[in-house]
Amino acid sequence: MQLKNILNLVLIFSSSLLLKADDLSELRGQKLYETICFSCHGNKLEGATGPNLKDYEWLHGSSKSDIIKSITNGFPEKGMLAFGALYKQEQINDLVNFILSRQQGLRNVEYKIFHDIQLNDKFEWDKHKADKQRSLKPPHFNPNLPEVNQFAISFKGQLLIPKHLAGDFILSGIRKQYRGIALYIDGDKIPFPTNKDRAIKIPLNLRAGTHDIRLEYIKDFKSTVFFLDLVGKETIPLTSESYRRSITSSHIPKAENAFLINRKRITAAPPGSIIVNHMDKISYAIDPKTSDIKAMWLGKSLDIGPNIYARGQHFAQPIGTHLFSAEQSINLFINGKAAELKYIGYSDKPLPKFIFKSSEGEISLQSKIENNALKLSYSIKSNHALDINLKIPQELNTKLSKGKTKNGLFTPESPQDFFISIPIKELK
Ligand code: HEC
Repeated sequence: MQLKNILNLVLIFSSSLLLKADDLSELRGQKLYETICFSCHGNKLEGATGPNLKDYEWLHGSSKSDIIKSITNGFPEKGMLAFGALYKQEQINDLVNFILSRQQGLRNVEYKIFHDIQLNDKFEWDKHKADKQRSLKPPHFNPNLPEVNQFAISFKGQLLIPKHLAGDFILSGIRKQYRGIALYIDGDKIPFPTNKDRAIKIPLNLRAGTHDIRLEYIKDFKSTVFFLDLVGKETIPLTSESYRRSITSSHIPKAENAFLINRKRITAAPPGSIIVNHMDKISYAIDPKTSDIKAMWLGKSLDIGPNIYARGQHFAQPIGTHLFSAEQSINLFINGKAAELKYIGYSDKPLPKFIFKSSEGEISLQSKIENNALKLSYSIKSNHALDINLKIPQELNTKLSKGKTKNGLFTPESPQDFFISIPIKELK
C-alpha cells in the first residue's frame, strides 16, 4: 500500500473516531435533556414554558460559551435552576452538544423588495435594483410585509437540516396564487404544481447540513394566503405564517415576541393605518400621520376580515372585542397641541417600533406583550424640554409609568420615556 493511501486511511479512521466521540457526547446530552430540560423546553426542543432551543432565535446568545453560561447559571428568577450546581462541566458540555446538534430551519434570511412590479410583468430578478434590502428576524419568509406598492420580493438565506432529520421531507403548504412564486433549494427550482391546485405537497430529500434557499414572490394582492412547511420527522416552518402557527400559546417566553405587522383597512381606523397584532391576543391600529392609536381589539389577527385583501381596498370589520369605541383614540400631544408628525418608518427587530419626526425631535413608539398586557412605550428625543401629554380613553383600564393623570390626560414624569400598559383579558 502506498504511503498516501495509508495516510488517507489513518485520516478516515481518526475522523470517524472523532465523530463517534461527538455522537456519544450528544447522546449523553440527550439523556440528560430528557430527564429534566424537556419539561420546560419541550420533547423536541420546541419550547413550552421555556423558550424554543432549536430555532435561530436566542434570548441569551447563540455561541457555545453563551449556551454553557445559560445552563450553568440558569435563570432562577424565571424558574430555571442554575444547573452548574447540579451537573459537572462535561455534562453541561454534553447538553450543549446535544442542543447544537438539534439546530434547524432558516437562518441569515435577507429580503429584497422591488416596487411597482405587476404579476404580468416579465420580471428578471437579477436585472433590477431592489428598492429595499434588509435581513429578516426571525428568519422566516414573510410574504406579507406591510409595503404599500405592488411588490415583488425575493428572500435568500440558508436552511439548516440537522442529522437526525436528514432524508425525506414533504414540502407542504397552501398558496392561493398559482403564478409568481418560485422556490429554489441549492439552485434547483422546486416544481410547484402548474394547475390551480392550492395545496402544495412535494416530496424532497434533503441531506444533513446547510442548504441555500431562495424564494421569489410577486404578490397578487387578491390572494395573500401563502405558507410553506417542511414536514419530516419534525415540521420545519419556512414562512412567517407557519412559524406563527407552530408556536402555541403555551410557548410563552418567545411567543411573547411573536407579532404581525400588516397594512389593512379597517372600519375603526383611518386609511393607511398600520395594524399590529401581538400573539393573536391583541391588535391595534396606528395612524402613521399622527402616531395615534385609533383602534384596539382583543382577538386573532385573522378575525380582521373577511372582506379584505392585503392593501385593504375594502374596509374590514375586526371581529374581536373592542377596547375602546370607534371615535376614541390614544393621542399624543406636544406642547399642548396634537402631534404633527412625519412617519419615518418601522422596525421589527426585536419588537414592532414606529419612528416619527416632528419639528421638536424624534419620537418612537414600541409595543410588546409583558405580564399579559400590551405595553406601548414612547421614547422622545429632543434637544429641548417638551410638554408631553397622552390623551387616553377613560374606559381603558391602564397602568401607566410615573406621572399625573387628570381628566384622561396623562402627563408623564419623564417625557423622554414613558409607557402605557393595557391588560389583556383572555377570550373564552
Ligand atoms: C422550570 C423550567 C425550566 C427547566 C427545567 C429548564 N429550563 Fe432552560 N429556560 C427556562 C426559561 C424560562 C428560560 C428563559 C429565560 C428568559 O426568558 O430569559 C430558559 C432558558 C434557557 C436557555 C437560554 C435560551 C436562549 O434563548 O438564550 C438555555 C440554553 C436553556 N434554558 C437550557 C436548558 C437546559 C439544557 C435545561 C436542562 C438541564 C433547562 N434549560 C431546564 C426554563 C427552564
